[in-house]
Amino acid sequence: MTTIKYLYFRLIFALKYLTFNKCLVKKDDLIIPTSNGIFSIYRFCPHQNAPLENAYISNNIIQCHWHGCKLLINKKGYKI
Ligand code: FES
Repeated sequence: MTTIKYLYFRLIFALKYLTFNKCLVKKDDLIIPTSNGIFSIYRFCPHQNAPLENAYISNNIIQCHWHGCKLLINKKGYKI
């Protein structure tokens, strides 16, 4: 069920923002589709400010590519 919800929000994200990328950069925010909806989170890592658009995204978790800090997208961001 989670996969279907993720695919649904991923499709909504692609139609709304016209991109198949895993995320979209908007000013200082990242727009990311998850199985819980489409979220906006601050673009930089809270550890040492790495830009998170290059981070690994796995459904609801974003893992910083510099030191591996994991963030729950639905806790750190807000639903849009
Ligand atoms: S800068 Fe992101 S984990 Fe260190």
